[in-house]
Amino acid sequence: MRFTIGFDLDDRARVHRYWDEIFDTQQWTESKFTALFEERWASWNGLPSLAFSSWSGAAQAALEYYKVQGKTVLCPSNTFMATPLSVVKAGARLEFVDCNREDLCLSFEDLKRKADKFRPAAVWVVHIGGHIAFEIEEITRFCKERGIVLLEDCAHAHGASWNGRKPGTWGAAGVYSFYATKTITLGEGGILATADPGLLEYAKRSRNYGKPDYVVPGQNQRITEFGAALGVVQVDRLPDIVAWKKAYAEKHLDPRYPNRVKFPAGMVSGYYKYIVFDPIEKSTGKVYDQPCHRIMGRDDALPVSDWVAKNHWCVPLYYKGE
Ligand SMILES: Cc1ncc(COP(=O)(O)O)c(C=O)c1O
Repeated sequence: MRFTIGFDLDDRARVHRYWDEIFDTQQWTESKFTALFEERWASWNGLPSLAFSSWSGAAQAALEYYKVQGKTVLCPSNTFMATPLSVVKAGARLEFVDCNREDLCLSFEDLKRKADKFRPAAVWVVHIGGHIAFEIEEITRFCKERGIVLLEDCAHAHGASWNGRKPGTWGAAGVYSFYATKTITLGEGGILATADPGLLEYAKRSRNYGKPDYVVPGQNQRITEFGAALGVVQVDRLPDIVAWKKAYAEKHLDPRYPNRVKFPAGMVSGYYKYIVFDPIEKSTGKVYDQPCHRIMGRDDALPVSDWVAKNHWCVPLYYKGE
């Protein structure tokens, strides 16, 4: 199966219609489609949502709003460098937490150890591969008890749910990426989903140079109307994309790959990746080849993150791919 963008070619005409409207109205930014995309995403996610030009702009707004500067933020090492770098950029002290073999996500056991040791102000949980971290309930309860801000990196988790509950609804906020390889994409883009009205207001100013009062030291992280229009179409198509990948995985891949990530009852993965624990021919490679603590030249002991990097592979699974 060859890589195909998560986009249905049947949607081309609708995208073109929207783009023509943008040409006609001359509103290329900060207009109808940005608001519509946010509305549609909010309705899928069940949370007020704010569109950004990337994941990192939204993550930065959240870390700033929760005032992590000078404090410790815990982060899994089995993730993309964007997650730990957001902590570094926020001026916080970064400490890594190990992951589990079963879900490749943050280990609750190691989180408890690291929370005792480092007294963090915030924790990133990353829903690796498209499913929701299997220990999200325990992690959420623990963070609430300790007064730790929990942030969800949902960059892989479009279309996922667990007993109907969507990513981003456990923590204080969920941050999604719409980079070109993601389950749905706008080429580039991000979204912040949060029930915290204070964060929402802060983030609005943060993505737009602090307008209107310039109290928030924001920069430009706005999305274009062209991207947002594509986003409207993509959100509507998301259920089809996930249903197609799920049906394909269950029919063609599950019988072939018994040694794979197996989901608990009630979990629907968005199938960003299909992860197995045996080397395979024609793998698309790994979710991540190296854990972040290795890339950053640190010598933390994170044995499961090292194990996962060495022992998982991804089977090609692309929407309507052949
Ligand atoms: C886990 C994770 N977090 C964050 C990001 C960053 O997203 P963006 O490229 O939209 O800034 C990505 C991927 O690109 C990712 O995979």
